[in-house]
Amino acid sequence: MWSIVGAVSVLAAFQCLLPRVCSQGSVSSDFFRNLDCLTHDFETMSCRWDTPHPSDRIIVYKVCSRSGISAACFETTGNKLEVEFPVFSVSDISIEAIDVPGNPSIRFQKTSLDIPYVPYPPEIRSLVADYQSDLLSVDWAVNATSMLDGVKLTCEMNVLRGDNLLALNETVVEHWFPHLETFHWKWKSDFPLNCTSHSVRVRCFVHEEHYNGEKRQSGWSATKTVNGNDMGT
Ligand SMILES: *[C@@H]1O[C@H](CO)[C@@H](O)[C@H](O)[C@H]1NC(C)=O
Ligand SMILES: *[C@@H]1O[C@H](CO)[C@@H](O)[C@H](O)[C@H]1NC(C)=O
Ligand SMILES: *[C@@H]1O[C@H](CO)[C@@H](O)[C@H](O)[C@H]1NC(C)=O
Repeated sequence: MWSIVGAVSVLAAFQCLLPRVCSQGSVSSDFFRNLDCLTHDFETMSCRWDTPHPSDRIIVYKVCSRSGISAACFETTGNKLEVEFPVFSVSDISIEAIDVPGNPSIRFQKTSLDIPYVPYPPEIRSLVADYQSDLLSVDWAVNATSMLDGVKLTCEMNVLRGDNLLALNETVVEHWFPHLETFHWKWKSDFPLNCTSHSVRVRCFVHEEHYNGEKRQSGWSATKTVNGNDMGT
């Protein structure tokens, strides 16, 4: 409850502290298209957007962000920004394209309820094929910087045979603890591993129960491949 009251008074303070921005109130939503913000780690919020300009045109933006008592302005390019993400307060962000005629700008407020949590993609550390027993062994890791002890992960393991034939889609459940370096996973192929290449990728959903915003699955890890004997001939 205190956080809601706090958020409301922080908002009220913005109205007074930023009269210029408040009264301006210009929202160039026709310039800032598909604006999308998320957090990978509860520490920073990442936003990106599209513009009507070709994607190779480099636009310089002035970004001002305020949350709680901290405020900062900086310049960025690449149609994206990263700011500190205070889970318990409102982030007030304004973006202005400073080298575009008319200086299109946008201003918005976000709380954790508007910011989906999308964990960093896992990383496959090693993929080893045993060609005698047709067994694949995978070591993979998650970026655990933001994870709480014991948090549950539901991960999807994909094995692709050849270039893109999905040979297996298996869900594994893991719990992350600080002493864990990597998770291990094994799979026995019903098809000789030496006949064609096999690739593995993984993505995870983190059951972060203390976050009240939306939670989404991570992106896929980079794919690792072991070649069969048909390769390179
Ligand atoms: C693949 O491995 C099996 C079992 O080790 C072996 O019998 C077969 O000759 C191998 N095939 C190729 C193409 O290397
Ligand atoms: C892991 O998380 C930290 C802190 O949240 C971040 O700075 C870093 O870039 C992440 N690493 C990878 C490989 O995603
Ligand atoms: C794997 O299975 C899950 C659960 O059935 C499904 O949601 C997901 O779309 C599948 N992924 C692929 C790449 O087929």
